[in-house]
Amino acid sequence: MADKRRNGSTHVDGNSNGNGKNGSGNGKNGNGNGNGHSAMRLSGKVAIITGAGRGIGHATSLKFGREGAIVITCDINADQAQQAAKDVTEAGGEALGYQIDVRDQASITRMVESVVARYGRIDCLVNNAGIVQDSTLKNMTEEQFDSVIEINLKGVYNCTKAVVDVMLKQSSGVILNASSIVGIYGNFGQTNYAASKFGVIGMVKTWARELGRKGIRANAVCPGFVLTPILGKIPEKVLKALEDRVPLGRLARPEEIANTFAFLASDEASYINGAVIEVSGGLTL
Ligand SMILES: NC(=O)c1ccc[n+]([C@@H]2O[C@H](COP(=O)([O-])OP(=O)(O)OC[C@H]3O[C@@H](n4cnc5c(N)ncnc54)[C@H](O)[C@@H]3O)[C@@H](O)[C@H]2O)c1
Repeated sequence: MADKRRNGSTHVDGNSNGNGKNGSGNGKNGNGNGNGHSAMRLSGKVAIITGAGRGIGHATSLKFGREGAIVITCDINADQAQQAAKDVTEAGGEALGYQIDVRDQASITRMVESVVARYGRIDCLVNNAGIVQDSTLKNMTEEQFDSVIEINLKGVYNCTKAVVDVMLKQSSGVILNASSIVGIYGNFGQTNYAASKFGVIGMVKTWARELGRKGIRANAVCPGFVLTPILGKIPEKVLKALEDRVPLGRLARPEEIANTFAFLASDEASYINGAVIEVSGGLTL
């Protein structure tokens, strides 16, 4: 509870913007690792996280909460969105849960308007919601192709479009996006997914150019294979084979991607713009 109040008031007074002009309280822990028990790196920042109900989005919500952010946990699954907010709060942070469908502009706008009415600003958007619908090109249906593009690519556009005016008005903001190593290298059975994740990189580079001078940074994170439910349909044998190919000898934990997002959202990353950062344990070497 005490934390909750402190975060709320930090937000009102602090307004440390994401454009790197305010370096105070940072710089002690620049490697993005650990649990951030030193200085809170996201104190008072308002961060919207999509796909927060489980997996990487859930881990990112917890991490942002621990770093002092006010976390807006958004998911298509209403119960999971609320549960994620509860989990952040129970860990001592401040959070609000919203059901949104990243395909549905009206649901996103309602959430953004409600967040701005309550907190007056949006410092960070983490476009994390995503799905897979795998099939070889020969067998892929139009529905499989369209559903992945609609959520993974258009959904990222929809959410960013909904916050950009707020960030422009503030002259600050950070737009973080879950791409994938598959968006750089392609992958068997993932024509749709690779197209969507490569498309995200294209949008990130465009936004980095368009918005950089306005104090807004945009970056993409490309995880390798992360132990979350999205890997559910991959046979155990294939996962083991993948693991064997990773120089670090294991798949990623969701927290390791969350740590990367937290670093990029912080003022420690104030000169990182338009970057495409692989977090793959060296899998692509
Ligand atoms: N897990 C991996 O190995 C891996 C690797 C590279 C990239 N990624 C990317 O990271 C992101 C998170 O992946 P994850 O592994 O945590 O997946 P996940 O399936 O565990 O979680 C995805 C979340 O997104 C939500 N979601 C799905 N459709 C939505 C919609 N239309 N609107 C709002 N929310 C929606 C789901 O309800 C779920 O809570 C995805 O963009 C994924 O493509 C994951």
